[in-house]
Amino acid sequence: VTLRVAVVGHGRTGSEVAIVLRERGHDAVLVGRSDPFPSDCPVGIDFTRGGEVLGNLDRALGKKACYVVGTTGFDLEAARARVEAEKGGFVYAPNFSLGVNLFYRMVRDAARTMAGFSDYDPYVLERHHRGKRDFPSGTAKALARILEAETGRRGSETLPLEEAFHVASLRSGGIVGDHTVGFSSGDDEIVLEHRSRSRRGFALGAVLAAEWVVGRTGVYSFEDVLTALGNSPPRGVAR
Ligand SMILES: NC(=O)c1ccc[n+]([C@@H]2O[C@H](COP(=O)([O-])OP(=O)(O)OC[C@H]3O[C@@H](n4cnc5c(N)ncnc54)[C@H](OP(=O)(O)O)[C@@H]3O)[C@@H](O)[C@H]2O)c1
Repeated sequence: VTLRVAVVGHGRTGSEVAIVLRERGHDAVLVGRSDPFPSDCPVGIDFTRGGEVLGNLDRALGKKACYVVGTTGFDLEAARARVEAEKGGFVYAPNFSLGVNLFYRMVRDAARTMAGFSDYDPYVLERHHRGKRDFPSGTAKALARILEAETGRRGSETLPLEEAFHVASLRSGGIVGDHTVGFSSGDDEIVLEHRSRSRRGFALGAVLAAEWVVGRTGVYSFEDVLTALGNSPPRGVAR
């Protein structure tokens, strides 16, 4: 089915979203900073800035459109309250790449395996390009929540390491997005790593979420979308 999709924010990631939409036979309607939300789009995709998301969401809900947010660094609970009050449809993921969502599952399994071995200190390290403003990345926060749930330690730089683990950020040059989860003891170290090679993977995931959420109400994660799509890599994921 051809959709008209509002592409809110046309920077590094939004411009890839417009390309993927056209590849999949949809119309991309570009929405800039001072544009209203278009009235003929049943769904919008937002890659802007954290501080802009709630205002953008209000404008989309005002036009009865569903909204897919890839932007990080906004108040998710405030967004949830607005979506529920307006009976809207909403998908948020700090990382829309299929590979990172598989990586989350591997990290969960690894953290379970390591949970009984307190000599191994977990950590999360994220590296991004010089233009990424928020830190730690939304993906690093998601990884930290997985480690917290499985190890009982908290992501904190101030608690003693017996109760905590560190989450660190690095900004340099053109790194698209690398996330490392490690477990270090005095003797050795186990490292799991995901590296994004292009922004197309983020754009494709957001477009799949937009196709799926049209006509639905509720607040969903990308995991929900992948589960509903049968969990297998959808057409077009592998190039
Ligand atoms: N979930 C994921 O998979 C994923 C992947 C990549 C990035 N991200 C996140 O997505 C966000 C954008 O990243 P990016 O690298 O694409 O940033 P970017 O290149 O800076 O692009 C953001 C664009 O949004 C525009 N913009 C800002 N406020 C707007 C508004 N209210 N309405 C319409 N357009 C607006 C900006 O215009 P101006 O230049 O005029 O400010 C800019 O063109 C960041 O939060 C990043 O962390 C998430």
